[in-house]
Amino acid sequence: MVACVIPVKPFDLVLFGATGDLAQRKILPGLFQRFTVGQMPDQARIIGAARSALSGNAFRTALSASILKAIPDAVAGDITAFLEHVTYISIDARGERGWADLAKTLRKDVIRAFYLSVGPSLFAPIAARLKTSGMTTREARIVVEKPFGHDLNSAHALNAELGQCFSEGQIYRIDHYLGKETVQNLMALRFANALFEPLWNSQHIDHVQITVAESLGVKGRGEYYDKSGALRDMVQNHLMQLLCLTAMEPPSRFEPNAVRDEKLKVIRALDPVAPGDIVRGQYRAGNGDESYRDHAANPNSRSECFVAMKVQVSNWRWAGTPFYLRTGKKLRARMSEIAVVFRDPPHSIFPAMQNRRGNALIIRLQPDEGITLRMTIKDPGPGGMRLTEVPLDMTFAEALGSDVIVPDAYERLIMDVIRGDQTLFMRGDEVEAAWDWIDPIEQDWAESSAKPAPYDPGGSGPEDALMLMHRDARRWREIGG
Ligand code: BG6
Repeated sequence: MVACVIPVKPFDLVLFGATGDLAQRKILPGLFQRFTVGQMPDQARIIGAARSALSGNAFRTALSASILKAIPDAVAGDITAFLEHVTYISIDARGERGWADLAKTLRKDVIRAFYLSVGPSLFAPIAARLKTSGMTTREARIVVEKPFGHDLNSAHALNAELGQCFSEGQIYRIDHYLGKETVQNLMALRFANALFEPLWNSQHIDHVQITVAESLGVKGRGEYYDKSGALRDMVQNHLMQLLCLTAMEPPSRFEPNAVRDEKLKVIRALDPVAPGDIVRGQYRAGNGDESYRDHAANPNSRSECFVAMKVQVSNWRWAGTPFYLRTGKKLRARMSEIAVVFRDPPHSIFPAMQNRRGNALIIRLQPDEGITLRMTIKDPGPGGMRLTEVPLDMTFAEALGSDVIVPDAYERLIMDVIRGDQTLFMRGDEVEAAWDWIDPIEQDWAESSAKPAPYDPGGSGPEDALMLMHRDARRWREIGG
């Protein structure tokens, strides 16, 4: 099966922070991939913008190396052809340099996207400058990376500042998890199949587990991370988005505001988290590895790099079905999944059913994207009616054929920006509602003298996180099992 590629309209994409890590590692290689599959039209232009005083050639030479690093089998001729679409302007975001050049470079009547891959303190100044320089045409749109604020007040202020320069329909707040193929597949699975939706409620679902585990620590980005912590860095955005897509009601149409309205309702239905329902952790030194505090270069750090929590969505569909969220650094494996665990049959006719774990639908985000349905069947052979559990397994790569290349989240999201499709981007009220729910947890932690629980690198997180499940007579799925 060959992926269908529909070319987008001509565009000017201005990438602020073009020499930065995210731009060189993800955004520009992502655009290159879209170019090679024919989605970028001939008239598309990418304008790298950053503070460094580089010539266009120097920028392109460095970019060529970054593309090869990100995509080792990239064809030299393709890179050369792609670089013909790329120019560079040295801009001082808070000063005068470069702005007049940028204004002259942009074409009229062509889609223009301003992608801000810069620190959040520059979002508002750049947006204001774009507006005062007359560059915010009707066809303009602005893309901002996370973090979008660090609490409700800062997110609200940022929304207001961006709102003075762009309408909500022009603002694209990125959460790259929404661009992941399997996250979109979650919507297809739920709303394009008649099979699951009748069971998708507290009557049939015992609980849901959402895990985003990483094997890497925070070495190299400890300074940023220590100010943020896992709750702000991962839960407020990625895990909450996964929770929303799992828990939301079917939107009436697959349209940006219809989908985002339903996600917002989920966030607003979340109960406050009781202090006993959340565990935070920090990896300690072990197995030859340094500790979180070493990596954060802060021997007294109380920031968490692991969070596990029990969350209740208070509405008719989910009352009585908890959602357990878990994320952490330096765990046994890199593994992201949503596990929907079904209730047992109301009456067991088989005595051997006592110890089974029950049906579960596991949606694997990474690695090895796919879906597994855990079923109970009869253990083959004589010896009575013994039961066993087997996975009904579908790996997307196998099911769709080896010629389907799953695009990186950024590729999908950037093309959506050009197409003007905001479905997979967070709306301003959604981001604020998420902070409104997160803020009391942060405040509790700030006022408490308790420290994050230590855990061993390469394990499954602190003991307390296991207890969070055990006390409810449930257990986490194995990380990397
Ligand atoms: C980022 C976080 O948003 O997502 C990082 O800031 C995290 O801390 C990353 O490592 C995880 O993304 P992915 O796509 O590798 O799961």
